[in-house]
Amino acid sequence: MPEKRATEPDFDLAAWRRRIPVLERAVPMNACSQGPLTDRAGEAMESFMESWRRRSMDWERWLGEVEEARRLFAGLVGAEPGEVALASSVSAAANSVASALDFGGRRRTVAVTEAEFPSVAHVWLARRRDGARVEWIPATEEGIRPRAYERVVDRETLIVSACHAHYETGFTQDLAAVAERVHDAGALLFVDAYQSAGTRPIDVKETGVDFLAAGCQKFLMGTSGIAFLYVAPRLVDRLEPRDTGWFGRRDPFAFDAETLDWAPDASRFEIGTPPVPSAYVARAGMEVIDEVGTEAVRDWTRRLGRRLQEGGRDRGLEPVGPGDPARRNPTVAFRCPEGTEAAEVGQRLRDAGVIAAPRGRVVRLTPHFYSSREDVDRSLDALAGAMAP
Ligand SMILES: Cc1ncc(COP(=O)(O)O)c(C=O)c1O
Repeated sequence: MPEKRATEPDFDLAAWRRRIPVLERAVPMNACSQGPLTDRAGEAMESFMESWRRRSMDWERWLGEVEEARRLFAGLVGAEPGEVALASSVSAAANSVASALDFGGRRRTVAVTEAEFPSVAHVWLARRRDGARVEWIPATEEGIRPRAYERVVDRETLIVSACHAHYETGFTQDLAAVAERVHDAGALLFVDAYQSAGTRPIDVKETGVDFLAAGCQKFLMGTSGIAFLYVAPRLVDRLEPRDTGWFGRRDPFAFDAETLDWAPDASRFEIGTPPVPSAYVARAGMEVIDEVGTEAVRDWTRRLGRRLQEGGRDRGLEPVGPGDPARRNPTVAFRCPEGTEAAEVGQRLRDAGVIAAPRGRVVRLTPHFYSSREDVDRSLDALAGAMAP
């Protein structure tokens, strides 16, 4: 389909922008790290505070918010609520999965892409003590070649750990194609979708992934302390995570210390008391994304991403990663010239009213649905100034 050329998105951009207070003072281009506060997330946090203040404890309402957050996440990735477990972070979700696997058999290789966020890779490396053998699937700034999977994934591979979108360069992977390759070798696929959730439609059923984790702090317009893990229902009965706790039980309120049973659904991957304040905010953030619509977010951020790449080149900047907007998430990373520190550039941008996300050798500019073309131009001008010798 030809790319839309319209200059405005399919939703009321000005109305949404009025609901994000930081836009009055600055240009937030850091959704790959932390999405800005919306009025709705602020009200949700306030409503938790009010409930706590007035009622001291209101578990029925609080757990209701948790369930609503679970339901919204499930909807965003094409899953049923019972196929989604709550976690406190993506790292914790990955640990829960790792703790459910047996690395003592013939299949004990964990094939980890070089594009994984370090924390996720660390989870797998730590399992070497349980017998896991970690092998690396090579990645470049442009992405991961299909052949790279074929070379590494074989009949000794237990699980493959692959990100949907790379946290630094923004390249994305075709999850259905990766899942097919991984399953052909009889292995499982764990996907870290933290950098893609909320930026495009995701369908765990259509893509056939086995596990998919994401948190709410970035494009889902929430805050830290909560993440979600989709577990393919066909696997649930076979897996008993050793990292466990009372919320992984069939009935957490049975209070039977001597019985280790397992919830019949994905909640068996849960551990302790759910993060109630974060669930309030997560619910609010995902409602916003739901209302805007992930297809609309994808279409608008693709256009802004193209403007970032082209406008960056016009200003003598060096964008990193694939040029094709269909092969990337909203993030456009720009390489810092020799001798220039990304953190220093980030500070200069802040001084100029642009909130960017420096990381390693690059400075990331990440638009989201609320970003305007003027935001893009202003941040590029500021970046060109900040990177000038
Ligand atoms: C792709 C990706 N995965 C995982 C993480 C870490 O998530 P958490 O802190 O929830 O474990 C990040 C954080 O930036 C990330 O970008």
